[in-house]
Amino acid sequence: MILVAYASRHGATREIAEAVAEALHGQAVPAHEVESLDGYEAVVLGAALYIGRPCGEARRFLRTHRRALSERPVAVFGSGPLKLDDAEVESSRRQLERALARFPELRLVAVDVFGGVLRPAELRFPFNRMREGDARDWDAIRAWAEHVGGLLREPALSSASWASARRAPEVARATRAGAAGGGRRTRP
Ligand SMILES: Cc1cc2nc3c(=O)[nH]c(=O)nc-3n(C[C@H](O)[C@H](O)[C@H](O)COP(=O)(O)O)c2cc1C
Repeated sequence: MILVAYASRHGATREIAEAVAEALHGQAVPAHEVESLDGYEAVVLGAALYIGRPCGEARRFLRTHRRALSERPVAVFGSGPLKLDDAEVESSRRQLERALARFPELRLVAVDVFGGVLRPAELRFPFNRMREGDARDWDAIRAWAEHVGGLLREPALSSASWASARRAPEVARATRAGAAGGGRRTRP
C-alpha cells in the first residue's frame, strides 16, 4: 500500500493528492493525521508551497517520520506556481529541493512541482488582492502518479541504486520527462 500524505492549507494540494491516490489505489491522508508509516511500502508527500518553502505541516511530517521515511521509497510533489512558465516552475522546484536537501537520507524517486491554485476570496489582505487562478494540469498529475507508482513499487531498486539516483539529477529529469506526455502545460 502506498501512502499519499498531503499538507494543504486551502485545498489545492489535497485535491492533487486525492487524484494521485486514486491513480495509485492508495490513500490520501492529511500529513498531520499520519501516526506511523508501518504497513506502507512507499510514501508520496504532497506539499503546498508558501513563502519560499513547503508549508509547516509538510516540514513537520518529514521531521516526525524521518527514520521511517528513510526506509522506504518516497516521491514528493509541491503545489505552488500559478503560471506554468519555466521560470516560475523552476523557482518553486528550487524551494522544494532546498527543503528536501535537509533530509539527505531520503530515498527520493521523484521530486516535482505542479501548478497551484489561488482563491483570493479565501485569503486575507493583501493576498485577497491577488489574481484568481488554477494552474493544475490534471492530465500531467495523473501521468505523474502512474509513472511514480511504477518507480515506488519497483522491487529491483536496492539501497545502492536509490543512492545513485540521488546523485544523478538526470534520473529526476527522466522522471519528469516520463510524466510529461508532451506539451508545456504537461510539464508542471
Ligand atoms: C501568501 C501566499 C504565499 C505563497 N507563496 C508561494 C511560494 O513561495 N512558492 C510557490 O510556489 N507558491 C506560493 N504560493 C502559491 C500556493 O502554493 C498555491 O496557492 C498552492 O496551490 C496552495 O495550496 P493549498 O491550497 O493546498 O494550500 C503562495 C500563495 C499564497 C496565498
